[in-house]
Amino acid sequence: MNGRLVVFFSHTGENYNVGYIEKGNTYIIADMIADATGADSFEIVPLTPYPEDSYDECIEIARRELRENARPAIEGDVAVEDYDVIFIGYPQWWGEPPMCVYTFIEQHEWAGKTVIPFVTHEGSGMGGTDRRIAAACKGADVAVGKGLAIQGKTAQSNRESARRSVERWLEGLGLGR
Ligand SMILES: Cc1cc2nc3c(=O)[nH]c(=O)nc-3n(C[C@H](O)[C@H](O)[C@H](O)COP(=O)(O)O)c2cc1C
Repeated sequence: MNGRLVVFFSHTGENYNVGYIEKGNTYIIADMIADATGADSFEIVPLTPYPEDSYDECIEIARRELRENARPAIEGDVAVEDYDVIFIGYPQWWGEPPMCVYTFIEQHEWAGKTVIPFVTHEGSGMGGTDRRIAAACKGADVAVGKGLAIQGKTAQSNRESARRSVERWLEGLGLGR
């Protein structure tokens, strides 16, 4: 353990702009960050998975969760408390991280931690989600304005370009290997 952790949610299956994917866009970027920094990683997995076969159904459930400000139950956990720097990654869902990311955040203590958001998207970029993360991770130093936003399609289909972006970004943060 080197004090760094990558926590992420990513949706496998039918996805916007890239068709059916075996490994989610954010998952790909999470792996690149973990590779480049030697961080441990933890995938946030909802107890009730979002549908894989129907993008429309996934959208419907996501919309309802957002409307209700839901906190869907998740599988397993990781002791964030044991780490100093935590990367939190998620897809951009209408200006918010998926609600299960809040489930995870709210079951931990964040005071004194450095939190670095990263997002994959199809046009909205970070879209203010870093400020949402900052509000949720109470007491953490959240790298608002310094997170990574990368197009899902690039992560999925142009991995070398995505890897270069990840590495440049990490160097800029002083967090390369
Ligand atoms: C429910 C839902 C809402 C989305 N809303 C947005 C959005 O508001 N802006 C955007 O740029 N992309 C949006 N997308 C596209 C995803 O952010 C993008 O495909 C992302 O790379 C998916 O990452 P993943 O494969 O790790 O889940 C949305 C996708 C879903 C499923």
